[in-house]
Amino acid sequence: LKTEYLPGFTLDAYQQFMATRFPQFFDTLWLDRAGIDEAIHFMNTGPADFESNQGGGRGNSYQKAQQNPLVRSTGITKLIDLALKQDGTRRPSAAPKILDILGGDGTIARALQCMPTKDRIDQAILTSDISACMVLKAINYDLPTVRQPAQFLFLRDMSFDSVIIAYGTHHIPAHDIVSVCKEAHRVLKPGGRIVIHDFEEQSPVARWFQEVVDTYSYTGHQYPHFTTHQFEDYLKASGFRDVNVFRMYDPFIVRDETEQGAYEKLMDYILHMYGLHKLHEGTQHPNEAYARVHHLINQYMIYEYSDMPERQSGWKEKLTFYKAEQFVAEMPRLALVAVGTK
Ligand SMILES: C[S@@+](CC[C@H](N)C(=O)[O-])C[C@H]1O[C@@H](n2cnc3c(N)ncnc32)[C@H](O)[C@@H]1O
Repeated sequence: LKTEYLPGFTLDAYQQFMATRFPQFFDTLWLDRAGIDEAIHFMNTGPADFESNQGGGRGNSYQKAQQNPLVRSTGITKLIDLALKQDGTRRPSAAPKILDILGGDGTIARALQCMPTKDRIDQAILTSDISACMVLKAINYDLPTVRQPAQFLFLRDMSFDSVIIAYGTHHIPAHDIVSVCKEAHRVLKPGGRIVIHDFEEQSPVARWFQEVVDTYSYTGHQYPHFTTHQFEDYLKASGFRDVNVFRMYDPFIVRDETEQGAYEKLMDYILHMYGLHKLHEGTQHPNEAYARVHHLINQYMIYEYSDMPERQSGWKEKLTFYKAEQFVAEMPRLALVAVGTK
C-alpha cells in the first residue's frame, strides 16, 4: 500500500488516517483489491472537470458555491429520505451507512449535518469522488471521505445500507453506467437502497448545460442526460428490484435580509456552481455578470408542469423572488430520480 493515492497520502497513510479518525468506515475499505493500481492510474489520467481551476478544471469555483450546502437542501433532503426510508417510515438500522458516490466536497454530508436534530444522523455518509481536489476539500471539512472511481469502488461487498449517485451522473460515460450501478449493487447489503439522480434529456436543465454551461465555462459541458426508460433499464440491468423512476423538485433557494441581497447571492451561486467565467469577460463590476446570468435564467429555466403526475403545489415555474420571514430567491429545477432495492 505504498502507492501515492492522494497528494500527501499513500494508500497506507490514508488507511491509517481512516482507522484513527473514522473507524466506523474502516471495515468498509478494500484497499488491497486486485486492480487498485490501475484504478488509481485511471483516476489520475481521466477528465479533470472537477480538479482545481489551475489544473484546468472548475473545482475551486464549484467548491466556492458549495460553501452553503443548504441552497439545494430541498432536493438533498428528499434524496436522503429516499435512501433511508425503505418502507416510507423506518430507517434500515440505527447507524446506517450511506455511500455518496459522486460526493464532491461533501455537499450532501454537510447538508445532513445542518438538518434539524430529528433528521440528523452524524457521520452516516461516506463521501466519495474521483477528483483529488474534491476529496482533499471534503477531508478538510472533517468528513469521512474516499477517493475512488465510481466504476471500481475501493469498498467491500455488502457494507452499505444505501448508495446515492447524484448531481453528476451525466459525467459518467454512458457505456459505464451499468457497471457503476453493478458496483453500487455489490457494496450494498441485501435490502439496501440505490438512489440515482440526474436531469431529463430535453429538459430546461439539460438545455442549460448544453447551451449555457458549454458556452460560458472554460471546461465546456457536452454530456448526455437521461430518460425515464434509461434510468429504469440501468437499475434493472444491474440487479435491482422494485425500481421506481419519477421527477423530483430540486430548486436552488437562497435567503437574505434584502431582496437585492437574495438576488446577488443567487446569481453569485449560479456563476460559481457552473463555472460561468466567460460571463465576467469585459465587465467592470460583478453586477454586470449578475445581469447576464439573470437574463439567461429567465430565458432557459421555465417549467410547465401541467402534464406531470408528480406535480405538487409550491413548485415554481420560473425564477421567483418572495418574502417568507427573509427575502427568498428560488430557481426551479426538476430532477429525474430512480430508486431500487437490492
Ligand atoms: C457536479 S459534481 C457534484 C458533487 C456533489 N455531489 C454536489 O452535489 O455538490 C460531480 C462530481 O462527480 C465526480 N465524478 C465525475 N465522474 C466520476 C467518476 N467516474 N467517479 C467518481 N466521481 C466522479 C466529479 O469529480 C464531481 O466532483
